[in-house]
Amino acid sequence: MHTPVPEYLQEVVDGLEDNRDGNVADYIPDLAAADPERFGLALATVGGRVHAAGDAGLEFSIQSVSKPFIYAAALVDRGFDRVLGSVGVEPSGEAFDELSLEADSHRPKNPMINAGAITTHQLLLGDDATCSERIARSVDFLSELAGRRLVIDESVMRSELDTADRNLALAHVLRNYQVFSSDAHEAVEGYTAQCSVLVTVEDLAVMGATLAGGGVQPITGRRVIPTDVARQTLSVMAAAGMYDAAGTWFSEIGIPAKSGVSGGMVGVLPGQVGIGVFSPRLDKHGNSVRGVEACRRLSTDMNLHLM
Ligand code: DON
Repeated sequence: MHTPVPEYLQEVVDGLEDNRDGNVADYIPDLAAADPERFGLALATVGGRVHAAGDAGLEFSIQSVSKPFIYAAALVDRGFDRVLGSVGVEPSGEAFDELSLEADSHRPKNPMINAGAITTHQLLLGDDATCSERIARSVDFLSELAGRRLVIDESVMRSELDTADRNLALAHVLRNYQVFSSDAHEAVEGYTAQCSVLVTVEDLAVMGATLAGGGVQPITGRRVIPTDVARQTLSVMAAAGMYDAAGTWFSEIGIPAKSGVSGGMVGVLPGQVGIGVFSPRLDKHGNSVRGVEACRRLSTDMNLHLM
């Protein structure tokens, strides 16, 4: 590939702009109002170079793309044994909002599905932490990864909490099985706050590059995540980041990745780059249509497939 990176990224964006397949998520009222035409793409290297094209500066709520990062925070806060005792690492093969608990232990199958992510959020800091302390921990950790101060979109958060029956149901079942003991409403409030943090595609690319670099934030040079936690996080992303499409995704595109219902996606090529994409129309699995296609092009053109 001989085209300079910024021109190349613009070419990828231009080439996919006519793709209007899929639908904007409509189960969260604020997300249903998103402009479906928006499209941004960014690449950050482990050396700290950041390139972007399209709607690079546009902020959107991080949603499920927060899940691997908050999983990393929980591993930092509580250690492997405690976290693995509560959340598994197997792909669920089911949609992100299914219960998907392991038969005997009742652990959610992985931290990328909602049941697993609600549990992971409850692991932050310690058993005695308050809801607001865990929310602050989430925002602080995501901010450290992005290298700038991130904030919660209160409107998205309220809109999601108003329609959170399904996540509340999951939290009540988890509590029933003593996966965690905190109040179900507080668990969902904390998790929803984590999902409502605003980011840009450049943020996601830099956050991804931090995982790619084994936990060192490429711009600030700070070690935010220990190497073993970065490896664990990437392994779970590879196994379950794209939900019930995870196997197809990994065989075709071959990059550990995580998607979210606002249309954001992060991809991580270990040792090399983080990729951030945003485009709100989703396929039937809840993955951004243009996001998947942009990653497919990058994977092919730059030979990024890990296998
Ligand atoms: O809990 C929810 O449903 C949302 N806050 C996040 C779900 C999500 O992003 C799943 N992604 N495809």
